Amino acid sequence: MFKRLVIVATALTLTAAAATGCGGAADSGGTTLGFSQVGAESGWRTANTQSIQDSAKAAGINLKFADAQQKQENQIKAIRSFIQQRVDVIAFSPVVESGWDTVLKEAKDAKIPVILTDRAVDSKDTTLYATFLGSDFVEEGKKAAQYVIDTYRSSNETVNIAELQGTTGSAPAIDRKEGFLGLISADPKFKIVASQTGDFTRAKGKEVMQAFLASRQKIDVLFAHNDDMALGAIQAIEEAGLAPGKDIKIVSIDGVRDALKALVDGKKNFVVECNPLLGPQLMDLVGKVKAGQPVPHRIVTEETTFTPEQAVAALPGRQY
Ligand code: AHR
Repeated sequence: MFKRLVIVATALTLTAAAATGCGGAADSGGTTLGFSQVGAESGWRTANTQSIQDSAKAAGINLKFADAQQKQENQIKAIRSFIQQRVDVIAFSPVVESGWDTVLKEAKDAKIPVILTDRAVDSKDTTLYATFLGSDFVEEGKKAAQYVIDTYRSSNETVNIAELQGTTGSAPAIDRKEGFLGLISADPKFKIVASQTGDFTRAKGKEVMQAFLASRQKIDVLFAHNDDMALGAIQAIEEAGLAPGKDIKIVSIDGVRDALKALVDGKKNFVVECNPLLGPQLMDLVGKVKAGQPVPHRIVTEETTFTPEQAVAALPGRQY
């Protein structure tokens, strides 16, 4: 009888362990992270997703990953589902800046800490999230503008600039525009002659650039809010019989391998880095906020810029 009881008790323990996921290598820390990703719109995003998945595995964190396919409603649904599942920590990269207060409040009421990665929200109540890890997008826009200013420093002629904006309402689109315009508008010779969203994708970047070129407006410089849109635009420029990097100077943001290759090939002129490899820092923060340890409310990612010469040196070791 005693033997039978021991067998039943052992079987129950094993079943419970399997149900909770306890005891497996991927869950050795006993931490579950719910992560809602923007989508798969760019090379940057693919590298970001990979970094988060690899780092969660390395840290033994059980990752519940949801792809929002660039839709805020999908992110809100994913966050609510993470709350229902009682994950330990929720992290997400918000598709757009506004409209998060209600769901963030729900997470707070459920006592589940939230970490923002990559993109900010515009909530006035900053206690709705524990920390925000990501780039300074305004600074990135300023770096792009500084390249344009330096390139045309000795010229008094008008410089016509076309702008390919990121996803409307997203933090990088809002902030990069603000940073760029903040510097460029100090000199009236710089004119933004065309500006439209390309939704951070290569296909849309190409389509919008085709429309810019079809309008027959003279364009000296293209400022693209990310590399993928610039790479799409390069195709449109070449198909129009023009030389990207020469007839139209191109500056964009991210620093993915294809963009660095285009720099080396002379098809682009300047790239401002935006680092997608946020996984290791995020996992560290997850551990800390779960344990109730203090973390800085804002952590800014370190980044650089690339000229064609610097791209030659950087390409062999570039991870993404
Ligand atoms: O939020 C970061 C931006 O989103 C990257 O610049 C872009 O490539 C991505 O889609």
